[in-house]
Amino acid sequence: MIDDRQDLLLQVNGARRRVSAEGSDTLLTVLRDQLGLTGAKRGCNQGVCGSCTVEVDGWPVRGCLSLAAACEGHEIVTIEGTGRDPVMAVLQRQFVVRGAVQCGFCTPGMLISARRLLQDQPRPDAEAVQAALSGNICRCTGYRKIIDAVLAAAEELAQ
Ligand code: FES
Ligand code: FES
Repeated sequence: MIDDRQDLLLQVNGARRRVSAEGSDTLLTVLRDQLGLTGAKRGCNQGVCGSCTVEVDGWPVRGCLSLAAACEGHEIVTIEGTGRDPVMAVLQRQFVVRGAVQCGFCTPGMLISARRLLQDQPRPDAEAVQAALSGNICRCTGYRKIIDAVLAAAEELAQ
């Protein structure tokens, strides 16, 4: 078997982090297993559920489908790196207030996708929220409360 392990220098949550990854290692694996950033969840590990969503260069991507080696030179942000972001703070509060968090497994990925939406489109309607979150599956809430939380966050941020 060929050992193609290599050192990578990743920019994660504003800091340079050195990791050692095989060519087939995904960004999710490196974030969770080497850097201890477990906010992005490993659900399906097949690109379906969106629970592994993180930002790369400002765009939500599925960590389980992104090769770690391809992320060198790009800006990676996980849910752990959004603690000082005012948009994320409002989203998190509205998720809690509106009961949009139950088991919480989908929540980090949902929040990453929702934050990107509100940055691009500060006053979305329900259809736009639904479209923006269409890649994030939730098995608990029925989605209505999540959509309501994002709309409420948009309204709060507009005041
Ligand atoms: S764990 Fe990546 S999409 Fe499901
Ligand atoms: S809150 Fe449980 S999967 Fe969404």
